[in-house]
Amino acid sequence: MKYCTDTPCKIAAVIVCAGKGERSGLSYNKVLHHIGQKTVLERSLDTFNETRVNHITVVTSQEDLPAVLGITSEYENVSVVTGGDTRFKSVYEGLKAHPCDIVLIHDGARPYVTKEIIERTIDSAIEHGSGIAAMPATDTVKRVENGAVSSLPREQLYNTQTPQTFRYSEITDAYSRAKGTFTDDAEVYESAGYSPRLVEGSYGNIKLTTPNDFTSPCKDCKIGVGYDVHRLTEGRKLILGGVTIDYPLGLLGHSDADVLTHAIMDALLSAADLPDIGVLFPDTDEKYLGISSMTLLKQVMQEVARKGYCLGNVSAVVIAQKPKLAPIISDIRSSLAAALGIKINQVNVSATTTENLGVVGEGRAIAATASCILTEIGHDQ
Ligand code: CTP
Ligand code: MG
Repeated sequence: MKYCTDTPCKIAAVIVCAGKGERSGLSYNKVLHHIGQKTVLERSLDTFNETRVNHITVVTSQEDLPAVLGITSEYENVSVVTGGDTRFKSVYEGLKAHPCDIVLIHDGARPYVTKEIIERTIDSAIEHGSGIAAMPATDTVKRVENGAVSSLPREQLYNTQTPQTFRYSEITDAYSRAKGTFTDDAEVYESAGYSPRLVEGSYGNIKLTTPNDFTSPCKDCKIGVGYDVHRLTEGRKLILGGVTIDYPLGLLGHSDADVLTHAIMDALLSAADLPDIGVLFPDTDEKYLGISSMTLLKQVMQEVARKGYCLGNVSAVVIAQKPKLAPIISDIRSSLAAALGIKINQVNVSATTTENLGVVGEGRAIAATASCILTEIGHDQ
C-alpha cells in the first residue's frame, strides 16, 4: 500500500551538522569546509533543492549557529535548530522541529549525495515505509571477540549511507522509544520493530570523516589556455584585471577591452569545454557595449561552477612594452581573486615586454595569455 498518495505529500529533510568533526583534523566543523566555491553543507542543500523535498531543517551546534545561519539565510525553505551532544539527539531535535509525511535524514558531512539517490529513498519510503541508501561492502569485515577473529560473509554485508528516509510517524515513534547508543537511523527504526528497506546509494556518497577525505575531493583535472590582444588608442581607459591604470592610452574594444581578463575567461571556458568569449559575449550585441569585463568574468565562473568544476589556479602573463606593471600587480591579483572567488595565492600575474619588437613592442597593443586548472567536483558515482 502506498503511504503518501495525498498531494501535496509533505516531504521534509533533516540535515545534521551539529558534530565537531574532530576526526577531520580541521580546526573548524567539517560541514563548513569549502570544496571549490561552496561549503560542504551548501552542496547538500543545493542537491536537496533539486528534488521533491519541500522543507529542510538544518541541525547545528550553538557554536556554529552564526556560520550556519549565514549559509542558510540564502535559502527560502531552510530552517535551523540546535542539536545535542550525540548524533542521535541532534536527529531527534531535527525530527521534532518539522512534522511531515516523509522525512529524509542526512549527514551534513555527505556533500556528494545525488538527486537520484535522494529520489530513490523517497520512492521507497512512499511505497514501503523506508528507503535507506546503502552499498554492498567492498572490504571483508572481521569480527574480533576477546582476540578471536572470525569473518563475516561479505555478500550479505552492506554499508549504510544517508539519506535514510522514513514515514515520519514511524521514525519519530522509533526515536521516542529508543534506548541505547545509535549512530544509524535505520538501526533506531529496527530497534522499534520496523523493517528498513535498502535502496542503492553510491560509492561516491562518502561521509567526510578523516583528513584523507578532504585532500582528494576531485576526480579529474582540466587545463585551459587563453590569449587575447587589443590595440592601444587615445581616449580610452586602460583596464587590466579590473584595475584602472593611470596611462595616456587605453585599450580599444566593444567591452572595456580588459585584455588580461579576456585571456583568463577564455582559459576558463576552454578548460570547461564551453564556447569562447567571442561566442558567449558577441561584440555585435549592444548589451556588452562598454561592459566591465569583471562582470563577464563572474558570469563565466558561474558557468564553470554549473558544469561541476572548481578552479585550482590561474596563471597569466601580460605582454606590454609600457606601462610598467610591477607596482600594481598585487592590486590586479586581488581584483581577479575577488571576482574568481579564490585566494590571491591562486592567481598569479606576471608582466613582460617584447624588447621593442612587433606591434606590442612598438607600444601599439597589449596582449595577454592565461592558463588555468579546473578540477571536477565529486567522487565517481
Ligand atoms: N552530528 C550531529 N550532532 C552530533 C554529532 C554528529 O549533528 N552531536 C552530525 C555531524 O555533524 C555529521 C553527522 O552527524 O554531519 C555524522 O557524524 P560524524 O561523521 O561522526 O561527524 P562529527 O561528529 O562531526 O565528526 P567526529 O566524530 O569526527 O567529531
Ligand atoms: Mg561523530
